[in-house]
Amino acid sequence: MWDYTEKVLELFHNPKNQGLIEKTLENDSVAVVFGEVGSIACGDALRLHLKIQIAQDSILDARFQTFGCTSAIASSSALTELIKGLTLDEALKVTNQDIAEYLGGLPEAKMHCSVMGQEALEAAIYKYRGIPLDSHEDDEGALICSCYGISNSRIRRIIIENELTTTEQVTNYVKAGGGCGSCLVNIDDILASVLTEKEKNIEVVTEIAHQKDTTKPLTNLQKITLIQQVLEQEIRPFLMADGGDVELYDVNGDQVLVSLKGACDSCSSRNATLKGAIETRLRAKVSPYLIVEAV
Ligand code: FES
Repeated sequence: MWDYTEKVLELFHNPKNQGLIEKTLENDSVAVVFGEVGSIACGDALRLHLKIQIAQDSILDARFQTFGCTSAIASSSALTELIKGLTLDEALKVTNQDIAEYLGGLPEAKMHCSVMGQEALEAAIYKYRGIPLDSHEDDEGALICSCYGISNSRIRRIIIENELTTTEQVTNYVKAGGGCGSCLVNIDDILASVLTEKEKNIEVVTEIAHQKDTTKPLTNLQKITLIQQVLEQEIRPFLMADGGDVELYDVNGDQVLVSLKGACDSCSSRNATLKGAIETRLRAKVSPYLIVEAV
């Protein structure tokens, strides 16, 4: 028996925004689109419908149809409540953790329901923006779990975004490994590689923090110059190779504001790029106290 919060049970018994959105031909100021993830064969499926106010690029209405358990229904309902009224760019920043928090938490074995909601949202917005599914990062890279059709890059993204540390958590969050189990060893390898990268970054950050304690602090001009240099030489070439880019917008103390461009701006791994790639690199090379945010 799962230990569900009152909010989960409330939205399961009385789901908000269930159903579909009909397209009304006479109103050309709005667009209707849906995004779909999962499959009934795999146990959970979600179709998220959005009504988009075209001029404002914002979500006028959101509804869902889902096939799944208590937490799948509650997560879908929570998602629709969270995104109504947001611009599409704001909606793309909604994470699966936001969905779980709205519900007052989910049992860890049910976290994949919140991930499913966030991915259906991305799928709907990508479809509306005409971004082909084959440019979605999750569709690239080696297929790791054939039971659930989950790629290497998707597993890496979920590990980084949710700070996962065990294979069991990966299964709970994205279902990979929850079928025949033959991919578990590969998931172990991916997890080990992500954790090793993270440890290396922490070591570098600690070393720089130590240096910072024992050497003269950077002036603001030195800091900006160094940030610009790292962006130009070590980050932009890597992002541009995947059709993305980044520009430095401003630096306020330790807050670094950047503008993500091209594929990075609408990428599902936007947050992972911002924190896992750009912030980690700048902390390692410039100052361990930097906080990178997108404008
Ligand atoms: S291949 Fe991943 S569970 Fe079967």
